[in-house]
Amino acid sequence: METKRKIGIIFGGQSPEHEVSKMTAQSIMENIDRERFEPVEIFIDKNGAFDTNLLEGIDVAFLAVHGPNCEDGKLQQFLEDRGIKYTGPKVKASQINMDKILMHDAFKEAGLAVVEYLGFDSHEDSTEIADKVAEKIGYPCFVKPNNAGSSIGVSRVDNQTNLIEAITEAFRYDDKIIIESGVQKPREVEVGILGNNDLTISDPGEVMSNGEFYSYETKYFQPFDTATNADLDHDTIEKVKELAKKAYRATGCTGYSRIDFLIDQNGEIFINEINTLPGFTKISMYPRLMKSCGIEYKDLITKIIELA
Ligand SMILES: Nc1ncnc2c1ncn2[C@@H]1O[C@H](COP(=O)(O)OP(=O)(O)O)[C@@H](O)[C@H]1O
Ligand SMILES: [Mg+2]
Repeated sequence: METKRKIGIIFGGQSPEHEVSKMTAQSIMENIDRERFEPVEIFIDKNGAFDTNLLEGIDVAFLAVHGPNCEDGKLQQFLEDRGIKYTGPKVKASQINMDKILMHDAFKEAGLAVVEYLGFDSHEDSTEIADKVAEKIGYPCFVKPNNAGSSIGVSRVDNQTNLIEAITEAFRYDDKIIIESGVQKPREVEVGILGNNDLTISDPGEVMSNGEFYSYETKYFQPFDTATNADLDHDTIEKVKELAKKAYRATGCTGYSRIDFLIDQNGEIFINEINTLPGFTKISMYPRLMKSCGIEYKDLITKIIELA
């Protein structure tokens, strides 16, 4: 009999998405193919500490983590340094896509439509920031910590008075922020991609936001409904998929990722972000998008391990 591959399921972590990660790990533990794999749980605590001995003899680390310190290339570099294979995008792609300014620069460079945006450091004066926003961005705008996730520290701002408050809030989470022009009443659609060279690209799914801002509170306490087949015309579906592929390639993604878009009232498609370690419980958007491509959750876990 073939020996089983030992898979380290890394979860928890020094990230605001620590608790969500526990659910991801549990879902993977329940569904991983045990005929082929022997999973070992590797828990990272909220201080970032874990028993590195558990990495001994691991064939592949499955990254069941999300957010800062986990999705941003730091954990990937740590594993890279020890010669351990791991799931999802590698160091550089992880760094770019968790850094909203770098990510927008890369999208723009690749010719993808992005909203107007400006990046700022914490040493910049907030009234000067406000002047630049008035000049280049206007209202409504979105103020975000540069490196975060789950809408943490993100504000939608309608006027200059609220802008200063939003800037202070975003700087609580990072010493860099991004301010973007707001898409009015956008539709939010998301594409799943799986692969290194040959890619499986899902049709876009949709977060039924009805044009509302998908805030942290909403995400965790009253999540919007989602659909795996966004009600869009054929041409738009193909266009969104093509843009998703372009963004995946432009930022050097491998393994898998979820690519999110905002579509405005005129049908213009703006790329919003790439999530390199997207929500991954059985009922999360990414696994459901792959299911609609004919890949069951259990097989998805296997494929992601093979791609690593
Ligand atoms: N430029 C924008 N225009 C309109 N809505 C936006 C814009 N940027 C973000 N949003 C809203 O804010 C939410 C969170 O922003 P996002 O950039 O996805 O941050 P996170 O990385 O925390 O998920 C989005 O899902 C969307 O509802
Ligand atoms: Mg998002």
